[in-house]
Amino acid sequence: MSVDSQSPLTPDWQRSGYQHIWMPYTQMHTAPPPIPVVATEGVHLLLADGRKLIDGMASWWAACHGYNHPHIRKAVEEQLRIMPHVMFGGVNHEPALRLAQRLAGLTPGNLNRVFFADSGSVSVEVALKISVQYWLNRGVTGRTKFVSFQHAYHGDTSGAMSVCDPDNSMHSHFKGFLLEQYSHQIPQTREEHAAFETFLHERKSEIAGVIIEPLIQGAGGMKFHPPESVAKIHDTCRRCNVLLIADEIATGFGRTGTMFACEQADVVPDLLCVGKALTGGTLSFAATIATDDVFNAFLSDDPSHALMHGPTFMANPLACAAANASLDLFETEPRLERAVAMEAELAEMLGPCRRLAGVVDVRTKGAVGVIQVKRLHNLERLRARIVQEGIWLRPFGDMIYMTPPLSITVEQLQTLCAATVRVVREWSTWNNDGLVEQQRD
Ligand SMILES: Cc1ncc(COP(=O)(O)O)c(C=O)c1O
Repeated sequence: MSVDSQSPLTPDWQRSGYQHIWMPYTQMHTAPPPIPVVATEGVHLLLADGRKLIDGMASWWAACHGYNHPHIRKAVEEQLRIMPHVMFGGVNHEPALRLAQRLAGLTPGNLNRVFFADSGSVSVEVALKISVQYWLNRGVTGRTKFVSFQHAYHGDTSGAMSVCDPDNSMHSHFKGFLLEQYSHQIPQTREEHAAFETFLHERKSEIAGVIIEPLIQGAGGMKFHPPESVAKIHDTCRRCNVLLIADEIATGFGRTGTMFACEQADVVPDLLCVGKALTGGTLSFAATIATDDVFNAFLSDDPSHALMHGPTFMANPLACAAANASLDLFETEPRLERAVAMEAELAEMLGPCRRLAGVVDVRTKGAVGVIQVKRLHNLERLRARIVQEGIWLRPFGDMIYMTPPLSITVEQLQTLCAATVRVVREWSTWNNDGLVEQQRD
């Protein structure tokens, strides 16, 4: 769909540039044009027409301190003056090494070696590659497959797509192109754990690792599972001698109420992927963090045992400066406390949606709130109504969900949730043609 070029509210840059842009996850033929954002400020998006939206998405989980935090901005500005970028092959710099040391200190157990990447998907690719080579370097051949879980989402590059849910994901077109991996349900009961152990045991000679989004599966359906499941999956991996990769690209940096979701399961995975909120959502950046045991498998007199990977912009100094500043804010501002408190606040504030027609579940975990519906009908109309209410959410699949900045105040959260409840209540009265079906309370 083209933009409304007659409207005085359409900015010139959108009028002339929209016909040249390809938007993500969008059917460009039918989708309405996107909302023109001209600035961000705290928990707000400022629109070209002067409106101000409370952002319930934190830019896909990333802007954990809100936008334009002065501390991050100052750190990036200073770094920009000194050294915006330098290659990382054969060269080191202070922002990267300081960040690596801090991440090693913050992550559980002996996750001590940090490999920087430029996006979450790439950090997953790196984790998969490290896992396969780990076994080769140890003299074990044939371990080239991975086990992931139903509803998993690990990114959009081909290795990462191969460990997404093969059937219920946006990547199901690519069967035949992608490497075939194993997909299993997340075991929760004693019988399911026993079945998972049998499954893994029977195939362990071909499996390099198991990959999981601990506690919350994000883009594959916003499904929650308890810490005990993660702990038992970890035990099973140990018994079967298979690596465990924790993808904390979405859950990392406080989102579930602890710095990393793995902490709630008391689990130290072999590899941990982080991204999104690593820079406080300021710049594209990610990391794959390995235990000493994994790293040591790459030490050898044989040069071919080295990890042959190196994105051009890895360890970008601006991104490292933003990440160091973001970690400072976790020390000086009450982010984790807010994430913990938000679980109950969201449950209470979104609670009225439980009674609405078409809503099947309302669940919260840390600073994540999910309203799951039977079928997300009238999606574009719903999205437009959300913006009219002065908030920003992007419902998809079968849910309306929020991952607000961890810096959001209780009052701002109240405004965000009250508007969400209003919109969902109205939506629940629409029939499939968008007309009001019945009046409810
Ligand atoms: C759990 C998880 N893994 C990987 C990714 C991919 O990260 P990126 O979009 O930075 O490539 C995402 C992004 O949503 C994610 O939620």
